[in-house]
Amino acid sequence: MKKVGVAILGLGVVGGGTYKILEEHKEFYKKAHGLDITVENVLELRKERALELGISESKIASNMAEICSNPDVDIVIEVMGGVEPAKTFVLAALNAGKSVVTSNKELFCKYSHELEKAARKKNCGLYYEASCVGGVPVIRALLDNLQGNKITSMMGIINGTTNYILTKMSAANGGVSYADVLKEAQSLGYAEANPTADVEGYDASYKLSILSSLAFHTKIPFSKVYREGITNVAAEDIVYGKQLGYVLKLLAIGKNTDKGIEVRVHPTLIKSSHPLASVNDSYNAVYITGDAVEDVMLYGRGAGALPTGSAIVGDVIYCAKQNQNYQYSTFNNTEEADPSTKFIDNFKSAYYIRMTAVDRTGVLSKVSAVFARYGISVAQMIQEGDGNSGEVPLIFVTHETKENNVKKAIADINSTNDIATVKSFIRVVE
Ligand code: HSE
Repeated sequence: MKKVGVAILGLGVVGGGTYKILEEHKEFYKKAHGLDITVENVLELRKERALELGISESKIASNMAEICSNPDVDIVIEVMGGVEPAKTFVLAALNAGKSVVTSNKELFCKYSHELEKAARKKNCGLYYEASCVGGVPVIRALLDNLQGNKITSMMGIINGTTNYILTKMSAANGGVSYADVLKEAQSLGYAEANPTADVEGYDASYKLSILSSLAFHTKIPFSKVYREGITNVAAEDIVYGKQLGYVLKLLAIGKNTDKGIEVRVHPTLIKSSHPLASVNDSYNAVYITGDAVEDVMLYGRGAGALPTGSAIVGDVIYCAKQNQNYQYSTFNNTEEADPSTKFIDNFKSAYYIRMTAVDRTGVLSKVSAVFARYGISVAQMIQEGDGNSGEVPLIFVTHETKENNVKKAIADINSTNDIATVKSFIRVVE
């Protein structure tokens, strides 16, 4: 029976969940995998967290050096989050010859090149399945199972907090604002007291940077990911979107075409018949298209103690079975993108554009003239009002066009007197 000693850095939600899984499945892992996995050390400032989990005092390390010098620790699990001190601790573990399993998307997104270099130098494992989409096994799918494909696109709902908020706003059909639902999500413990990383799209952008680097075999730095969060989403856009046959989601989109790579996170109206449209509440999913496999969708819990713990323990078992043949990135893992990688900023999409206009003859033709000036073709529209209503909403969905054309058209409409005022525009996925 192979003995495997682990240390857990951080006993918050995910660290606690990981500990429970390892303890409860100890006998099962012996039988199923021939592995006797023991938590040898934990590192946690709040000692009471360890004691509440039933961890004996003797296992609570007082510093990282103690863990690095413990010969019984083979694998260090980092579930602290944030860059520091996590980065210092992970590098210390790797330099001490310990393999590392991490759930830290910000750390891995920003410093994978440094961590991987340290891991290779010491011939240690470095695993990060839990960094993206919690319990959904998307990293291993990209690193192993889908390697035979040229992956052309990846679209995902990869943040549970924002998906929960948008699902509730959609169910209320305009009855609640973003701010109301955020408060509710915070009181239920779904959203953090400081929700910025989730609601401003940082969390999803870290994950997209990692996933698209793996999918497209080239480093996609965080700085290349276009990011918009959900803080400006208006309830009426969700309602009009529904009328037009779409559901509003915070989508992470990565595309790899002959012209280059585009990576973006932003609110998106997605056709209600698309499989991602029915991913609700705090569930996550990633929809991957490969040239051989066609479409694959991976769906499940993207956060939480046990789902994320499941990904961590999966990595621990995988690592313990490697016999030093570790798997690293399938590309040159540098800080910046390879200079030969082209990025597309002026991408193509369909657009939803909501404006208000005075309800009188000639407004539509003026709007159409601006659209025509920029080659924008209208696919659907809604006009409300009975001809005597004063200001009315005018909503358009365009065919695919370039982002810059839409921005120029909006600027022209807003700067010309007597046409209309654009209140919002949202990218559309059919
Ligand atoms: N806060 C994230 C979410 C989970 O809401 O999906 C961890 O990345």
